[in-house]
Amino acid sequence: MPLNTRLTEFFGIQHPILLAPMAEASGGRLAAAVTAAGGLGLIGGGYGDADWLQREFDETQGSRVGVGFITWSLASNPELLELALARRPVTIMLSFGDPTKFADRIRRANVPLTLQVQTLDQARRALDTGAEIIVAQGGEAGGHGMSARSTFTLVPDVVDLVAEQSAKTRVVAAGGVADGRGLAAALALGADGVLVGTRLWASTEALVTPQAQQRAIRAGGDDTVRTRVYDLVRQRDWPDEYDARLITNSLIETWHGKDSELVARLPETVSAFQKALTAQDFDVVTQLVGEAIGLVHDVRPAADIVREMASDATRILNQ
Ligand SMILES: Cc1cc2nc3c(=O)[nH]c(=O)nc-3n(C[C@H](O)[C@H](O)[C@H](O)COP(=O)(O)O)c2cc1C
Repeated sequence: MPLNTRLTEFFGIQHPILLAPMAEASGGRLAAAVTAAGGLGLIGGGYGDADWLQREFDETQGSRVGVGFITWSLASNPELLELALARRPVTIMLSFGDPTKFADRIRRANVPLTLQVQTLDQARRALDTGAEIIVAQGGEAGGHGMSARSTFTLVPDVVDLVAEQSAKTRVVAAGGVADGRGLAAALALGADGVLVGTRLWASTEALVTPQAQQRAIRAGGDDTVRTRVYDLVRQRDWPDEYDARLITNSLIETWHGKDSELVARLPETVSAFQKALTAQDFDVVTQLVGEAIGLVHDVRPAADIVREMASDATRILNQ
């Protein structure tokens, strides 16, 4: 029996599973593969490279996909929004920053707006902004977010808020969902579906090197940490309130919690990082993945991952 939810109805998809728009990892091929398997793929608009984005839309070969942007970065490259809208995406997802200045433009283009939030207060503001889908992201999640809340409590909090204030808005759970158990749990918490990052990062279609994937799947959830160190060293200008979950290594252990000392030694650390990047030295270079990496033991085609997640969740919920 298929898992029909308000999300599957809204998007006209088979499984309530969205691919997270992971910067530099969720390209057109992966997004198209998730859509072809019955979920919905979202390209990761990342940090603002128009040529890259055009190419990745081309890679989908016309399949139905959405696109996600890092809101504070889109503010410096607003032309990317026009580029994306011209491709008629199934949804535009905005995360990390104030979405209000883009919401009207997206609404006028008749494209459903998805907003990712990390706190209940942000969820309230997302409703005010007119989000049709709210992604409630807990701190277990891979990549950027906040340490503020965990998926297990944030999702039902947001579900209750939405039920009270805007019952037609759909809620999607993000953070820690890597298999059928996670999907079943998210639906039991009242979510209409899930947004999956880490598990699909470890898929054959992801724009990730096999070496990085193999290194990551040897790690467990305990090996991940939320930190600002990596963005400082990569010179990504993230607002102070956000950090990123990633696999810890020598670089992270040396500097985690010592941001001001790191800033004082930044030039030499950045130059060492750039050398390590070329050499793919995993004592320095690391992978942005979530606690769910401990549940990932192999790199598989996205279609297998999506279909197995849906069928395992169906079995669990029917038991
Ligand atoms: C490698 C990686 C990159 C990410 N990049 C983005 C991004 O560019 N924009 C965004 O909205 N979320 C990004 N995220 C967060 C996801 O949207 C999502 O919330 C998260 O992956 C869900 O948790 P999970 O990793 O446990 O599945 C990223 C996550 C990962 C793992």
